[in-house]
Amino acid sequence: MNFSNRILDMDYSPIRKLAPYAKEAENKGVKVYHLNIGQPDVKTPDTFFQGVTDFKEEIIKYSDSQGIDKLIESFIQSLADSNIYFDKDELMITHGGSEAIQFAIMATCDPGDEVISPEPFYSNYSSFAKVAGAHIVPVETKIENDFHLPSKEEIEAKITDRTRCILISNPCNPTGTVYSYEELKMLGEIAKEHDLFIISDEVYRQFIFDNVPYNSCMHLTDILDRIILVDSISKHYSACGARIGLVASKNKELMHQILKLCQARLCVSTIEQYAASNLINTMNSYITEVKMQYKKRRDIMYNGLSSIPNVICSKPKGAFYMLAKLPVDDAETFAKWLLTDFSYNGATVMFAPGSGFYATEGLGKNEARFSYCTNVEDIQNSIVILEKALEEYCAK
Ligand SMILES: Cc1ncc(COP(=O)(O)O)c(C=O)c1O
Repeated sequence: MNFSNRILDMDYSPIRKLAPYAKEAENKGVKVYHLNIGQPDVKTPDTFFQGVTDFKEEIIKYSDSQGIDKLIESFIQSLADSNIYFDKDELMITHGGSEAIQFAIMATCDPGDEVISPEPFYSNYSSFAKVAGAHIVPVETKIENDFHLPSKEEIEAKITDRTRCILISNPCNPTGTVYSYEELKMLGEIAKEHDLFIISDEVYRQFIFDNVPYNSCMHLTDILDRIILVDSISKHYSACGARIGLVASKNKELMHQILKLCQARLCVSTIEQYAASNLINTMNSYITEVKMQYKKRRDIMYNGLSSIPNVICSKPKGAFYMLAKLPVDDAETFAKWLLTDFSYNGATVMFAPGSGFYATEGLGKNEARFSYCTNVEDIQNSIVILEKALEEYCAK
């Protein structure tokens, strides 16, 4: 019996692939600080749980494939606060941002088509593209330039007759880069001139620091029919396990096509949709408070990591990740060693090796992605461990 080439061509997530080593370390009694994954330790708002309690139906029915009205309306209302305006038939509820990206690629790409994405990029983008038979064509961004976009010409050089869309995360996972309006405008011009869609993954849009302005591709008013917005409650409301996201576009014909994908998977979990629709009643102070906490954690992570000899960091402006260059040849070997051969005061650190966020062979090999959505004490302890570990590892 054979497996499909499609599945064989897919990779394991760099964020999770060292998990068996972490488990082994934990079984041996070592405390592992999980800086590899974007699982916030922040409490989900009570409004979500109230929404679960308020669900009084006697049967858990399939909902409409595009999602329940109440949830769609609540998303429309909250997006309007960011000057993003949708009608009801332009927004569909998905199983997280993940399914939204998957649907956007499926609806725009045929097998063999290409999706341009600035690298490093969220590693699952590769898998989402491969499921559709497409693949990511990376445009390199550099730590020296805080991972901002290269010139229009450099991006255009990657365009072929198989290019169908540009996929960005803004703010970016894994770099924390927040694109300026000028950068988005440039992408908009490229999309227009080369007849492409832009998939704008904005699942971290609430977490932008240092008064950097938030610009959405949905603010590019002259090309709205080319923009596909992806959003999710996973990070904004620390509700990753609820699996509620959305795909939206002013291009009604595109949304009409995406509806086929929504119908094929019947619907998104009904109770979670009810619960999520009550998030609209969450006090504004919830996000303000969480954002303040992430900024504090970002500062501790950035100051701590940059103070370790020969570690190079770019200061993230958004999301809750940071990509750093380590003084090692291969960050994955170092990450494994941290879990199998090292502990300091009975603890060690797990991070995501950088190469998994690049499509170009060899790039990101000495880089590591650290997530700072865990508490301050864990971040501080992790920095101490990393410094000791690098000292010992580099002296070997
Ligand atoms: C950039 C980015 N997009 C999408 C997702 C998927 O989020 P969801 O939980 O909404 O599927 C993640 C999750 O970490 C992410 O970092």
